[in-house]
Amino acid sequence: MPLSPEEEEAIRREFEASRNSGHEKTLTPHETAPQLFEQAPGSNVRHVIGVVSGKGGVGKSLVCGMLATELARTGAKVGILDADLTGPSIPKMFGLSGVHASAADNLLLPVETTGGIKIMSANLVLESETDPVLWRGPVVAGALQQFWGQCAWGELDYLLIDMPPGTSDVALTVFQSFPIEGVVIVSTPQDLVQMVVGKAVKMAAMMDVPVLGLVENMSYITCPDCGKVIEPFGPSKLAETAELYGIDVLGRLPITGDYARMCDYGVIETALPEGLLEDAVLKIQTVAAFFDDMNGVS
Ligand SMILES: Nc1ncnc2c1ncn2[C@@H]1O[C@H](COP(=O)(O)OP(=O)(O)O)[C@@H](O)[C@H]1O
Ligand SMILES: [Mg+2]
Repeated sequence: MPLSPEEEEAIRREFEASRNSGHEKTLTPHETAPQLFEQAPGSNVRHVIGVVSGKGGVGKSLVCGMLATELARTGAKVGILDADLTGPSIPKMFGLSGVHASAADNLLLPVETTGGIKIMSANLVLESETDPVLWRGPVVAGALQQFWGQCAWGELDYLLIDMPPGTSDVALTVFQSFPIEGVVIVSTPQDLVQMVVGKAVKMAAMMDVPVLGLVENMSYITCPDCGKVIEPFGPSKLAETAELYGIDVLGRLPITGDYARMCDYGVIETALPEGLLEDAVLKIQTVAAFFDDMNGVS
């Protein structure tokens, strides 16, 4: 079931509103968009992958952190650009609460985790991480531009972007301004999931960014006593939703206190079990290899 005409119209209105919100943007696909941000001098980010969700609170940041950790474990050089400016949760997940980014030669320096993942986030530049981010259109676009074009990322195989949820103005800016090779969509098996996922799929399509596939988070709980699998939000809609939109299934994650604690204590790099999202990791590597091939990079 595709989006209804009303839903499509709502998305279209959001796009229009964002176009008229003060900063210059068009709906041109990113390949041709003149406003595509340029990398900082000396930086060489080879592949940019977005992690998106139709709405907040589904575990998008968790999945972004997991993917970064797994990619880094393969020996790749990995960074995370936390573009979810109003809910930046990446630094905490990596044990960087209260840490501040520094600057050199007019460039921001991303903060490196113990495992060598480079991170840039609003929480690393705000005075206090509990300060709310109340920036508006042009300031938001400026901050995102700085996190990319005025940030010394250096050599990176993968830069993962924790995208703002939904189809907001900020989400659009990110889609239009970063050279994203593909997006991973994160959802939960709740009612309306198909519409919510549909929004993310449509947005990526309108921006000409390929959808790599779908990860279903909070999919089930395994009883610690008897091992029985319980599906608190009802049966998984992962296969059905993926088929509906013609996208790949990239993984299914349980609800577990282990993940919540791993994020709270900032120990994702050491506590994350191996191979949790291996299909998603493989898909990212495959897409990256495809682009390398196309661009004649060996
Ligand atoms: N599968 C899960 N099991 C337990 N807690 C989870 C799970 N996924 C996410 N959480 C918790 O839910 C909260 C929201 O997750 P987060 O990744 O920040 O969502 P989003 O980025 O989509 O807003 C966090 O506190 C996180 O630790
Ligand atoms: Mg988040």
